[in-house]
Amino acid sequence: MLPARANSLPMVKLLNLDHVGIAVRNLDHALDTYRERYRVEPLYRETVESQGVEEAMIPVGGSFVQLLQPLAGDTPVGRFLESRGEGLHHIAFVVSSIDAALDHLREEGARLVDETARPGGRGTRIAFVHPADLAGTLIELVELAND
Ligand code: CO
Repeated sequence: MLPARANSLPMVKLLNLDHVGIAVRNLDHALDTYRERYRVEPLYRETVESQGVEEAMIPVGGSFVQLLQPLAGDTPVGRFLESRGEGLHHIAFVVSSIDAALDHLREEGARLVDETARPGGRGTRIAFVHPADLAGTLIELVELAND
């Protein structure tokens, strides 16, 4: 158990499991398989240049399956596919304020991939926490767009 400690910053509250991110080599093929096996359709599909991916979001209950195809080999997801193959890449939690969450995690000594938030799909702001920080799991924090 982690020791309890006083912290001047508010705790990060994880509001929802936003999505599970899965690295795929061929987005069209993966979407066809989801369609055929489970009769589900993506709600969004877009290229996110800042992450070097084309992504599709399939709604499942209140969350999404996010399928990620790298735009090039020399991208984070491209390198992941090269070394690990297709499969689970990250899980993403909704937070109310990504800036406050990053401040809190920094103070906790968490190993951050992103020191500041960057643009994600659907007009979100996102940041990644290194898998070495939590049982080999890459965590994405998501602040949803205000719309
Ligand atoms: Co994601």
